[in-house]
Amino acid sequence: MIIIGATSGIGEHLARISVQKGYQVGGTGRRVERLKALKEELGENFHFIEMDVTLHEQAKKNLIHLIHEMGGMDIIVLNAGISNYQAASIIGMEQMIIDVNVSGFVQLFGEAFQFFKKQGHGQIVGVSSIASLFGSSRAAPYSSSKAFISTYMQAYRQRCNKMKEDIVITDVKPGFVESEMTEGKKGMFWVADTEKAVKQMLQDIEKQKSYSYVTRRWRLVAWLIKLTPNWVLDRI
Ligand SMILES: NC(=O)c1ccc[n+]([C@@H]2O[C@H](COP(=O)([O-])OP(=O)(O)OC[C@H]3O[C@@H](n4cnc5c(N)ncnc54)[C@H](OP(=O)(O)O)[C@@H]3O)[C@@H](O)[C@H]2O)c1
Repeated sequence: MIIIGATSGIGEHLARISVQKGYQVGGTGRRVERLKALKEELGENFHFIEMDVTLHEQAKKNLIHLIHEMGGMDIIVLNAGISNYQAASIIGMEQMIIDVNVSGFVQLFGEAFQFFKKQGHGQIVGVSSIASLFGSSRAAPYSSSKAFISTYMQAYRQRCNKMKEDIVITDVKPGFVESEMTEGKKGMFWVADTEKAVKQMLQDIEKQKSYSYVTRRWRLVAWLIKLTPNWVLDRI
């Protein structure tokens, strides 16, 4: 299993729990010191490579390098994401969210898809969000970036079904989970302990589910949002 964005929060916990369960895990991120510390902690079943998903060609090259080092890949978890960015302007911040959450995702999804197509099987897990289900005034680029990746994964799932490709695509939609991303944020509820959320996520990955809501109670929220008329969502 390769986790793109394994240096903190959900990705770091997933790396730890997966190694404990016996997986060979590869982790990436920009903060190499965090990856080195994980290597110290997890030992020979953890591999890593530095990666900035906005540097497309380098990121794809590094993914292939990591796959070779590990002797293969069966699952990739596209987890890297940001909800905020310090920039000189709002448009600069919004562009960076799109660069990481959308463009970075698409580039690595494409590379992994081609790899699995050649291999004849594989699983791509994309970490979206409950926020993908509606536009949020407080997080316009973030919620729409997650809507993009969920719709993108659905389209590829259809393509795999039509073309009889043995590639599973799992769309993970967390609610609120403790991590650096949510640290100090106001207005959150049902904030899940990272380990609990990640354990549920891994169970759904192993069951090869198409959709995973973590923690489980967020399925109810997703269902309510889908039933809510747009004129109500427009006034939230
Ligand atoms: N926490 C929540 O409540 C929540 C809810 C819904 C969805 N999510 C999603 O879950 C995923 C993980 O978030 P988290 O909550 O665990 O936040 P986090 O602790 O901030 O982790 C984000 C991860 O993304 C990586 N990343 C960010 N920018 C990157 C870049 N340019 N290149 C490569 N890697 C990059 C970070 O690594 P480096 O900084 O080392 O590069 C880090 O490993 C995100 O996609 C997020 O949108 C989180």
